[in-house]
Amino acid sequence: MVNGKTIILGITGGIAAYKGAALCSKLVQAGANVHVIMTESATKFITPLTLQTLSRNPVYMDTFDERDPAVVSHIHLADHADLIVIAPATANAIAKLAGGHADDMLSTTLLAATCPIIIAPAMNVHMYEHPAVVHNMELLASRGAMFVEPGTGQLACGYVAKGRLAEPEDIVAAIHSWFDAGSKLKGKRLLVTAGGTMERLDPVRYLTNDSSGKMGFAIAEAALLMGAEVTLVAGRTTAAPPSGVNLIRVESAQQMLEAVTGVYAEMDIVVKSAAVADYRAVYVSDQKLKKNGENLVLELERTTDILETLGKRKQHQFLVGFAAETEQIEHYAMDKLTRKNCDLIVANDVGLAGAGFNGDTNIVQVFGPEGLIEAMPLLSKREVALRLLDIIAERLVFSGGGKE
Ligand code: PMT
Repeated sequence: MVNGKTIILGITGGIAAYKGAALCSKLVQAGANVHVIMTESATKFITPLTLQTLSRNPVYMDTFDERDPAVVSHIHLADHADLIVIAPATANAIAKLAGGHADDMLSTTLLAATCPIIIAPAMNVHMYEHPAVVHNMELLASRGAMFVEPGTGQLACGYVAKGRLAEPEDIVAAIHSWFDAGSKLKGKRLLVTAGGTMERLDPVRYLTNDSSGKMGFAIAEAALLMGAEVTLVAGRTTAAPPSGVNLIRVESAQQMLEAVTGVYAEMDIVVKSAAVADYRAVYVSDQKLKKNGENLVLELERTTDILETLGKRKQHQFLVGFAAETEQIEHYAMDKLTRKNCDLIVANDVGLAGAGFNGDTNIVQVFGPEGLIEAMPLLSKREVALRLLDIIAERLVFSGGGKE
């Protein structure tokens, strides 16, 4: 999977820098074109000559050491990288990336890069658990960085605890699975709905909900990464939709119903993460409603349940619903799964901090016909999306599902 890929290996200043040499060697042996960038502190632990010999490329340390007048090195490197791996990543390197600093070759290249980033932290356990480090890692994860967790064992500082750099073969496995992800949904057509619907009362007022669209957008983005062709039907959102999708904008539940049913037959996978209104106004005024008396009573009627409609018309599609609950999660999730004829239900307890509407994280439980499949801890919505799509991809392979 890494054969022919251009990988930047960032090595920062910790005792585990020596493992960067083994990682470099393994990536080169697997066919990757590896460019190493070392921080000045890293060079105190291992020599650039070692990395130059192993990578068969010059090692970068100084932003101003411009060797080719035709290019600006950090931009050129960033533009041509398929992936950047920082191993080991010190607390300082993580803080600099989280804060957007650009004061050496590695941090400057990282700011200029648009490719994915894998971070393998290594540090003392108390540093690893420090709220500042935890906050920086969460911030980077919410921006899409992936982490290879440190292992537990004898640390150089004398502690036996979590903080030692993951073994080079584990980091290589994470890199492989990153590149491998691009083929998991290749050839599949995936429809995802995102955001909340808007039910008009008059030309300037409407009923809506707190959905930002982040969960649905994360699913769309992850599906693109996994090679799917993505159609995104989005209602009212506060986040920006990803590029590279077929974007259909809608307002009301009725418009979402029409947009979704219009493309349903072509789809292999449908994920309904939108928060759709259950009720809409019976009368929508053409004119702005005037104050009239102390109270105003709105008459509401049920909207069509889009997911249930899709469940009834299901042929080859793999149908995934969401459930926003605050109590009896399993009971309501399983009820929705059966009633709406879904293959999976992703339940989020929207009463929990860090879960549900608006934020960058979620806590979900995925249910299938057999019951609970996976209870995910607090994760970035991006990570939830990747894990969910992994489950979907596995089930599709198992069932031979999807349209031929
Ligand atoms: O957008 P974010 O800010 O990131 O927030 C994400 C989220 C909390 C909106 C998302 O994770 C989520 O839970 N989405 C589903 C919210 C919801 O409407 O849940 P529900 O339990 O009311 O509906 C169950 C399922 O039926 C959902 O898949 C929903 O899309 C669907 N439904 C509901 C009503 C309706 N008229 N038509 C539908 O298709």
